Parts: sequence; structure tokens; C-alpha cells
Amino acid sequence: MNIVSFFNHKGGVGKTTLVFNIGLALARKGHRVLFVDLDPQTNLSSVALSDDTLESAVSSATTIRDCLQPLVERSGDVIAVDPIKIRDTAWVLPGHIQLSQFEEIAPTGWTEAVAGNPGGFRTSTAVYRLVTRIASSIAADYVLMDLGPNVGSLNRTAILASSGFVIPLAPDLFSLTALESVGSSVSLWIPEWEAAISALQRRAIDFSFDLPIGKPAPLGYISQQFTVYRQEPAAAYRRWNSKIPRKYEDGIVKPLKSVGSHVPSGSYSLGEVRNLSSLVPIAQQTNKAVFELSGVEARGAQHTRAKDTYELFSGLATDIATRVNEVMDA
Ligand SMILES: Nc1ncnc2c1ncn2[C@@H]1O[C@H](COP(=O)(O)OP(=O)(O)OP(=O)(O)O)[C@@H](O)[C@H]1O
Ligand SMILES: [Mg+2]
Repeated sequence: MNIVSFFNHKGGVGKTTLVFNIGLALARKGHRVLFVDLDPQTNLSSVALSDDTLESAVSSATTIRDCLQPLVERSGDVIAVDPIKIRDTAWVLPGHIQLSQFEEIAPTGWTEAVAGNPGGFRTSTAVYRLVTRIASSIAADYVLMDLGPNVGSLNRTAILASSGFVIPLAPDLFSLTALESVGSSVSLWIPEWEAAISALQRRAIDFSFDLPIGKPAPLGYISQQFTVYRQEPAAAYRRWNSKIPRKYEDGIVKPLKSVGSHVPSGSYSLGEVRNLSSLVPIAQQTNKAVFELSGVEARGAQHTRAKDTYELFSGLATDIATRVNEVMDA
């Protein structure tokens, strides 16, 4: 099973939209896909599930917050729940606004783990252990995790649980600046995790948890063209666009290689996503991928445009799957 996170410290760059459309394209190819909403904003859950379904997940305590709550309350370990089936081969573990409470215990857990204290591993591996357990229960081939736009301790746990991560970005100043923060954070977390495991081994404690490898690979970036400022001259946009490969190399590839992360072969860019304008909100309201919209939901030329996006999202899905399989075999 491969766990892929969509991660960028910069907000609003299309992470959630990409996770959902790429994941449903993977599912349409017959792969078994589990979506995990790790962003307390819960946008992925709202996009994937009807209001009623999400409300009943909250009232029946089957969101990711409820799975992690025993750790937050220090009353026990993670609880695996049944994810919600949304397609023949796609499921969702819904998010919750109070997932943010996990941030209150994660930093202490991390400090304890780095010191080799087994209690700290319970928290620091919580996302990995929960997600692998739920994914196994549905025999998932791929887990796609949507992360919130920050380099906080919940995301650290999620990124170290991942086999690889995809960076959605936009051609603008802060999106490119964010690459440095993402690269420096992840390249700090990897050796800290190694140190934690060494400390644990030195103490020769018999440990029953599965530990993630903790060496997520940067699988590439996806550049969003939709945030191109309509009023700005095309030249400004081209200027930022041309800087992306270099910034990605310096900000992500070099620091991650230096800590032993495997960088898959191929271009750093996985692809570009154009402005799909009103098709995106229509798809969100109907809990569908853009390419799933019917001729009633998107009419005429819009419907053709919507269906044509399958080629884009399925190409991205194939490339991400190929790359994550390559790094897992490495
Ligand atoms: N290809 C696209 N064309 C047009 N609009 C888009 C496209 N992709 C995303 N959007 C819109 O841009 C906004 C941000 O997208 P999205 O929520 O996917 O970004 P995000 O990176 O997940 O944001 P956050 O950091 O807040 O989680 C949303 O309003 C979404 O509807
Ligand atoms: Mg989002």
C-alpha cells in the first residue's frame, strides 16, 4: 500500500481539488483508493461527501478526529473505523474541525519519541498506524491524504507516514517561497525520526507498533494556472513559472536528497492544471470529480470540457502511481 500526501505550506494552491480529482481518476482505473482528510478545514470531506453523510459521520463519531481522540484524552490508542464508500473502489475517512486538538499532544509526543521514549511513538506514529489499519481493511492500493497548509506537528506525523508527497503550487512569489519552508521542514523531520528510532533501538525496548520508514519522497510538483492574476501581465506569470524548476531543485530536491530521500526519475513537474473556472464549484456541490459531471450539471461545451479533464487527472494519477511505486521499490 502506498501513502501519498498532497502538501504545501502555502494555502489555496489546489491541494484538495487535486487530491479528489486525481484519486477518483485512480479509482476509475480500478485501483482501490482511500482518501484521508487531514486538514481541520475539512474541505476534502465537504467535496467528497454530501452534507447529510458528513453530519452523520460526525454524530456517529467516525471521523479521523474520533479515531485519534483517545490519544488526545490520554485514555487509549487509535481506534480504526469503517471509512465511507463513495465509489466502487473509493472510500473516505472524513475530517473534523477538532482534529486540530491533535496538535496539542503531537509536539510533546515528538519530543518524547526523539528521546527514545516509547510513549512518544504512540502519538508520533498515530496517523500511520490508523491509516494503514483502515487501508488494510478495504485492501486499498493507494491512500491519498489531504493536508492543511502548514508545517505543524500533525503534518509532520502525516508526512513521515507517507511514502511520498506531491506539491501543488502556483506561479507566484509566496508559493515558490513556500517550497523552501516545505523542504527545510521535511529535511529536518527525516533525520529527527531516524534519531528517534536509533534511540529506541539503543534502549532495546520490545516494541509492538509498526513504525513508518519516515523517508517520504518528493514525487514532483503540479503547477496551478488558475491563480494567475487576471489583471497581471502574462510576463509576470511567465517569470514565476520559469523559476519553478530551479526553486524546486534548490528548495526540495537538494535538501531531501541530502537526508537520504529517494527522488524519483523524470521531470520535477508532474503537470499543469489550467483554470477550470465554474466547473470546479459545480463538481464540489455535486460531490463529483470534474470529469464525472453529467450533461445536466455542465451543459454543452462546458460538459465536453469537463469530460476532457479525465485525460489530465488520469495522466497525473498514473505518473504519481508510477513514481511512488518506484520509490517504494528503491
Ligand atoms: N483548476 C482549477 N480551476 C479553477 N479553480 C480552482 C481550480 N482548482 C482549485 N480551484 C479553486 O481554488 C480554490 C482553492 O483550491 P483548493 O481548495 O483545492 O486549494 P487548497 O490548496 O486545498 O487550499 P487550502 O490550502 O485552503 O487547503 C478553491 O476555491 C477551488 O474551488
Ligand atoms: Mg485544501
